Amino acid sequence: MKPTNENTISLPIKDFAKKVICDGHLYFRSKEGRRFYLMKPGIFIDESFLKKHATHQTVFDYEPVTNEAITLEFQKLFKELKYLQFEKDLRMKTQEIVNHFKMTFENKNHFLTFAMACYNEFCVLPKNDLIRMHETDLHLFRKSLYSAAFAVIIGFTNDFYHYPMIKDFYNLTLGLDVGLCESHYSYFVAEACNRENETPGSGLEWMKSEGATELELNVFLKHPEKSHKYFEDHQNLMAYPELKEIALYQHELSNGRGFPRGIPKGQVSSWEAVVILASSLVEIKDEYEFETDVMNYLFSYQNTKLGEIPVHRVYQKLCMGLGDLFKIKETAG
Ligand SMILES: [Fe+2]
Repeated sequence: MKPTNENTISLPIKDFAKKVICDGHLYFRSKEGRRFYLMKPGIFIDESFLKKHATHQTVFDYEPVTNEAITLEFQKLFKELKYLQFEKDLRMKTQEIVNHFKMTFENKNHFLTFAMACYNEFCVLPKNDLIRMHETDLHLFRKSLYSAAFAVIIGFTNDFYHYPMIKDFYNLTLGLDVGLCESHYSYFVAEACNRENETPGSGLEWMKSEGATELELNVFLKHPEKSHKYFEDHQNLMAYPELKEIALYQHELSNGRGFPRGIPKGQVSSWEAVVILASSLVEIKDEYEFETDVMNYLFSYQNTKLGEIPVHRVYQKLCMGLGDLFKIKETAG
């Protein structure tokens, strides 16, 4: 989204420091009155950044993009769901959340409004690991933040209404790329992951054709195992530790062409498909088009992966859950 000047506010460093994630466009204004763009919505705020500006008592120009009241409403709904017991009540609350999502994003709110609520409510991954993601690639954390929020709504529209399971979906999706956070990470690896999501099986070929080093190839090929190991070490954070397997075969394909093991994955259960679909919806990118046009983005989403790994049923349920008028287009596979 292009920044507009309409709702710029002056934000002292001490107020900005209270945030964990940047929820607007952040500018620095020099004494001469020149404006420098510093940070996008969804970027993790690191301490060195705050320290640097704290010494100068910087006052930023800030254009918030989220609607805090709506974020709080979502959090309230999640909390209500958490304490329900009976299936009928759980279903009704889930429906209420889905309807609220629909209403919010038909009104072109910024997706971060929802992503913040999900982060505040569900995130249990240690902060240091999130910082590591952020330090590996500025956009890796943001990609994961948005993917994880999509996992929540995909879960709800696919009749998963148990709070602990939704929470597991969230954290698994958020940490799915933790295995990429290696010292030999580079734009090659990020780009290879994007390509892999776009056209399954193409990531490695592309890296080779671009002359990636052995170390880079290794980071790419090993990241599902590394992420899996990460969740094995953090099983205590999950209500359903068996869900961690999804990290291992996130890039396995139906026809056995995937990696790390080349296991044909003919049948993917719907809970696995929730996480895979959520993570392939969002690329590691500088700019996102869906942020203020979430519904259109979801309805027009086309991806060859829908056929290669059987996530199309989950995708269809997502679209049906969100739009009564949406006509399902059968995709290949
Ligand atoms: Fe990946």
